[in-house]
Amino acid sequence: MEDKLKSLLDTALQVISSSCSQEELDKIRVRFLGRKGELTQILRTMKDISPEERPRIGQMANEIRDRLETELTSQMNKIRHSLREKQLEKERLDVTLPGSTITIGHRHPLTLVLNQIISIFQRMGFDVVECPEVEYDYYNFEALNIPKHHPARDMQDSFYLTEEILLRTHTSPFQARTLEQLAPEVPVRVICPGRCYRRDPADATHSPMFYQTEVLVVDENISFANLKYTLLQFVREMFDEKRQIRLRPSFFPFTEPSAEVDISCLVCGGHGCNLCKGTGWLEVLGCGMVHPRVLEIAGYNPKKVSGFAVGMGPDRIAMLKYGIDDIRLFYENDLRFLHQF
Ligand code: DAH
Repeated sequence: MEDKLKSLLDTALQVISSSCSQEELDKIRVRFLGRKGELTQILRTMKDISPEERPRIGQMANEIRDRLETELTSQMNKIRHSLREKQLEKERLDVTLPGSTITIGHRHPLTLVLNQIISIFQRMGFDVVECPEVEYDYYNFEALNIPKHHPARDMQDSFYLTEEILLRTHTSPFQARTLEQLAPEVPVRVICPGRCYRRDPADATHSPMFYQTEVLVVDENISFANLKYTLLQFVREMFDEKRQIRLRPSFFPFTEPSAEVDISCLVCGGHGCNLCKGTGWLEVLGCGMVHPRVLEIAGYNPKKVSGFAVGMGPDRIAMLKYGIDDIRLFYENDLRFLHQF
């Protein structure tokens, strides 16, 4: 019996140490220590041995059970450990490898310029509003003193949706809308950035869709001097401190008097070069004193209040600022172009 126990121990130790999975160990436990296992089978024959021998054999059997339990547990730990090692090896991470770079987007050049225009005027106390891109003929033309069949309409051929509704050709309808809404309240100090549309063929300086930003001030005692000062401040913040401005008489039906504004050339500073075509000046925007008729239509009394309006093209400003010679580049979404800003 003693031999049987010894050989059971030997066999068990051997199979335990060569086992390599949890399931295998479970089977081994059942095979040797289970209720119908080999150890139990041997102990069943205890009745055949002499009573004096029984305690010794009994003790031996207990020791074997304990030993096998310990071995099973330690083998189990070994297996778990090695599984974990394998897993870790598989998931090995070299933190010293260079990471994959995340490409961060950036703003479109027109957005940069629009944001800059907005922030300059906000600092001067202006509010910012947005107006519809699909507009009534009334606000786009009529309320701006451009009646039907007025020749000034010819310069702004539009995309008409119906007889009375069109894609706005400029941001100026914002003047009519804002004044109509606020009349007779003063002061009015608002700007309106946004997209405009014209039936223009696309070329280096024209695009059927483009941006404008409109500036509007109405208050008591607003004079041309206020307009000129505001423009000079704007131009110097937008471009640089050295910029001079020049106002040339012009015509817009909704302003009187009207002017076109040039800045001293960004390349030659005024001596004359290719960019300014030898004139020393670059045209940047249109402006004027709000026409009394426009004030009246909106519900203001032009004898009590006056104002000025400015209309500028952020596309043109961006082209001058960044030295871009083709407006179409802004709308082609060519990353080789966009990455440069
Ligand atoms: N709306 C004019 C255009 O698109 C630009 C303009 C000129 C706007 C003079 C103004 C202004 O507010 O005062 O041609």
